[in-house]
Parts: sequence; C-alpha cells; structure tokens
Amino acid sequence: MRIRSFQEYETAYKKSVEQPENFWNDIAENFTWYKKWDKVVDWDFKDYKVKWFEGASLNITENCIDRHLPHKANDIAFIWESNFDNAPNRKITYQQLHDEVCKTANALKKLGVKKGDRVCIYLPMVPQAVYSMLACARIGAIHSVVFAGFSAASLAGRIQDCECKIIICSDGSYRGDKILNLKNVVDEAIETCPSITNTIVLKVTNELVDFKVGFDIWWNDLVPTCDNFCKPEIMDSEDELFILYTSGSTGKPKGVVHTCGGYMVYTAYTFVNVFQYDANDIYWCTADVGWITGHSYITYGPLLAGATSIIYEGVPVFPDSGRFWKIIDKYKVTHFYTAPTAIRALEACGIEFVTPYHLSSLKVLGSVGEPINIEAWQWYNKNIGKEKCPIVDTWWQTETGGILISSLAGVTPQKPSYATLPLPGVQPILVDDKGNEIIGNNVEGNLCIKYPWPSIIRTTFGDHDRCKQTYFTTYPNLYFTGDGCKRDETGNYRITGRVDDVMNISGHRIGTAEVESAINSHADVVESAVVGYPHDIKGQGIYAFVIAPSITKNNSTLTTEIISVVSKLISPIAKPDKIQIVSGLPKTRSGKIMRRILRKIAEGDVNNLGDISTLLDPNVVEEIKKGRV
Ligand code: WT7
Repeated sequence: MRIRSFQEYETAYKKSVEQPENFWNDIAENFTWYKKWDKVVDWDFKDYKVKWFEGASLNITENCIDRHLPHKANDIAFIWESNFDNAPNRKITYQQLHDEVCKTANALKKLGVKKGDRVCIYLPMVPQAVYSMLACARIGAIHSVVFAGFSAASLAGRIQDCECKIIICSDGSYRGDKILNLKNVVDEAIETCPSITNTIVLKVTNELVDFKVGFDIWWNDLVPTCDNFCKPEIMDSEDELFILYTSGSTGKPKGVVHTCGGYMVYTAYTFVNVFQYDANDIYWCTADVGWITGHSYITYGPLLAGATSIIYEGVPVFPDSGRFWKIIDKYKVTHFYTAPTAIRALEACGIEFVTPYHLSSLKVLGSVGEPINIEAWQWYNKNIGKEKCPIVDTWWQTETGGILISSLAGVTPQKPSYATLPLPGVQPILVDDKGNEIIGNNVEGNLCIKYPWPSIIRTTFGDHDRCKQTYFTTYPNLYFTGDGCKRDETGNYRITGRVDDVMNISGHRIGTAEVESAINSHADVVESAVVGYPHDIKGQGIYAFVIAPSITKNNSTLTTEIISVVSKLISPIAKPDKIQIVSGLPKTRSGKIMRRILRKIAEGDVNNLGDISTLLDPNVVEEIKKGRV
C-alpha cells in the first residue's frame, strides 16, 4: 500500500487508471472486513450514484483500534496538549482509546441511540471529541460534528436538518485567554430542535451552566460507569458513517454524507502515502475536528495507520506566538500539518517567536485549506522546515473525503504553490466554461474529476437532488469541484481558488449567500451583496455592499450591528471585514447582481471593470467606486 519512490508512484498511478477495480481491490485487502465485497465499484455520474465495496461489511473502529491491539496496546494513539502551557498533558494508549470509545458507545446505547440515529458533537479539541466520533461509528450511529465556534442559529440549523437525537457538548471551551460558554449556545439552539432527547455535557471549564436534570446528563456521571467493551456493529460498506455540513454557493449549508468502506480505505491510503508516516513518528495536524481535515487526518486516517498524534486544545498565539513551535520541540513532532492562514499570521508576528526553538525533529510539513502563496511557502520551508523537510500542499474538499492532489512527501517532486500531481485513483480534468476538455499542458480551466475515488461524497443529507445539481450537472459526466486550476508544462496542478460564490476565509468555507441572508435580516437593510477580496493574513476577506435607504452615509452603528448579526446567525468567522453602504447594486436587466464587477471594486481594480453596458443602471458603478472602503 505504501509508495516509496517516484517510479512506484508512476506504476501505481498507471494501474489505478487502467485497472481501477484491481487497484482498489488490492488496497482494500489491507483492512479487516467481516465480509469481503462482491464488487469494487459501481457508479454513474449522470444520474449520480456510487457504491464502493458493495456487499462488504466492516466496522471502521475495529480497523482504527482493535486491529492494532495485539501489537500496540501500549503505544500512544494521542497526546493531548492543553490550551494552557503549564497544564499537564494526557497520553492515551490504543488500549485506553479502545476502553474510552467502548464506554462512550455504551453510554450512547443506554440513552437509546441505535444504528442509523444521528448524534451531534459540539465540543472543543479534547480527546472526548474523538472518543465521541468513534463511539458513534462503533454502534453504527451517524455523527454530525459541528465546529464549536458556530452560533446557536447555525448549530440549530444543522441539528434540525438531520434530526439529531443526542448532542454531546461541554460546559465551555478555552480559546487562548478567552472562555466560551458552549452550553448556553447549545441551550439556545435546542429550543428549536425537538428531535433532541438528551444532552451529554462534558466538564471542561467548570463554567456555571443551566442544568436540566433528566434531560442534561453529565459525561462524568454516565460514561465512566459504562462497560469498557462494546461489540462493534456490523456495518455495510455503504452505510453512512458521518454527515458534515459545509457551505455552498447557494442556500443553507448542506450535509455532506460519507460512508464506511470507501472512506476508510481512502483516508488510510492517503494518510500513509502523502505523509509517509513511519513507526515512531509523531504527527500533528492543527485543524479542528469540526472540519473535514479533523475527521480524515486527526481521527480516522492516523488511527487506521496506527499512528501517534497530537491533539491540541488551544490557539496558535497563546500564551504567545511561539506556541506551535514550542509544542513541536516538546513532543519531538516529526509531521506538522497546518493551514496557510496560520503560517502567514505567525510569520507576521516576527521571527523572534521561532528562533528560540530547535524544530530539529521535523521531517515533513503539510499545508491545507487554501492556496499557499509563494512567500508563505518559502517562509515555512526556510524557518520551520530548515530547508530539509518536504512540504506537501494537499488539495481536497469536504466532499472528497480525502486528499486528491498532493505530492507524496520526499517521494514525488514538489513545486512551491502547486499541489502538484493527482494521487493514484484520481483523474483530474480541466474544462472551459462550456465544458470542453482543455488538453495539453500550460493551460488553465475549471477543475473536474472524471472517475470516482472511494471517499467521494455519496449524497447531501435528505436531498440527493441537491447533490446531483451541485456537483454533477454543471459539466455532464464529471464531478465539478468549484475550483479554478492551472496545469503547468510538466503536468503539475496549481489550484487558483473558487470559481463559484464560495469564499475561503482563513481556510474556512463560507457561502456569499449565507452572509447576505444574515445581513439582510437587519431591519434597516433592504439588500446586500457579498464578495471575497484578497487579504494578507486570511487569504480572503469579506466585503459587503449594503443597501440601507434610511441610512445616508457609512454609519458606524449600522456597521457594528451588521457585524454582530452575522456573528449571531453564523459565526464570528463570517464577519465582514469591510462594509460599504450603497444606494444600489450593479444588476443586469434580468435582475442578476454582477458580482464580477463588485469583486473588481473590492479588490481595488476599479479601472478594469470590463463590459458594464448590460447593466440596468451603469451609474451605480461610479457611485460604488467612489465610496469604496
Ligand atoms: C476548498 C475546500 C480540504 C480540507 C479543508 C478545506 C480550498 C483546500 C487547498 C489547497 C488550494 C485549497 C479549495 C477547495 N482548498 N485545500 N491545498 N490549495 N486550495 O475543505 O472547507 O471543504 O474547502 O478549499 O478551494 O475547494 P473545505
């Protein structure tokens, strides 16, 4: 399963394209199945459906945990590092992980959770977040992890959409020197969530919480009393493993569904090959389990490989901006995987936060979530990797489940700001706006994939049509990623960013429509249009153009109120960086907002707006240009 040379990569890639079924059949043989598959893959991108390892049965937790016990019961699965620098850490062996997951699974069973039920997880970065995910998988319940920075309204929307039965949360969370009361957020959210029958509340901060006896249950009163063995539920390969909500260009966030067999095979395969993880290495991914990176490359991928990983509760800048580097030295981290936005932010804090640390344990660096600009790549390479660590720039999406385009650390060539080559099993294709394939090298187009890989999105929860519409109708017979992409003279891929109305703010995916709908809920706002613009640290910032007829000029009260309504309805991560009050928006005669023009203005490229003759009222453009903030 492990590729160790460029030549082996080429051989594997060729086989994966010419004989995909044989290729994945052989990879899948590396896992524990209760029953093997009848067919490797069955798919149709026209009337979208896909099935991997049909007829097989398994339990992913058996593969993440039990399978390792005979030879690594006492090896460390996770090292948990607290938000507080001087607080004791916690080491969790594979045996302890087994016991904790089983107890949590039995606790869920006690509350009546059954195979197929949905469980919401709203927790900070504590080991119990991972135990909870695996506990669901153990009993066949479907987890829906919600990032614990989302507001009550966002949390409620996600719980309602998939009708979660239980929510696992904590009293609060530590974020640097701040404490957030998460239980209050949960209480507010579940007022509109009749499907919730109980909450399980973990004590993290010892905040005072409103506790409803009988409905709210303390984790510590329940989980430790449960048995430390729970028989794994036998799951069909295509049974749902989890739902994870993500933003799109229209409407509410959609619940991306991943299933057991294919997701297991693909996350394990990509973890081992991209990172080239070896026994005794210490791997650290700084993502939160609330995002897909945390699912695939904190929880499932590393455990499937029997790895030792760090789980870090805190933020990069507490108690100071050297915290990441301090943790790397403390645990002799060999593999470090983070986002460009964190690299840029830490670079801006000054090299004096890096120089006190050796960083000599590092072997491989990773980047994920957004395009990494050359300056950030070089800073990372020079100051963190000391020019001796390969950097894997991993391109993928919530919908892809695992990494699709990336170099393999030290095995295939790297090129700054390029994700480089597709992984075996991945067949990228560039198309123009009409859907014609762009062939040859040194070209640019819309990135699509023409053959399924095992962890491709199966559906959007409760609405399969939406899944088809979003990913499989723009270009017939292709999975459309929503990203623009260049292919260089030697076939390396460079992702240039979204070509749809999705923004990428500090690696967080936010739909323009979601932010607009939050802004429009303000009583003084009639209409708004939101676009992304280049931002030095965040990659993209949010620029909002707002029509508020009762307000005559840029009004700071309205601006403050808009920021607060967006935080309340979505999350502080979706707050506009710039708000401009305008009297009208550039619309076509059919009433469509021309975002292309607004994007140019937000970028500051005001003299290069292109053709504006199709606008209903071209004068509005002059006004917006003048009032630019
Ligand atoms: C979007 C997916 C993949 C886990 C985190 C984000 C952008 C992601 C890269 C990269 C350039 C990247 C794309 C993609 N993106 N990784 N290495 N280089 N762009 O998952 O929230 O589903 O967002 O993030 O635009 O479509 P997500």
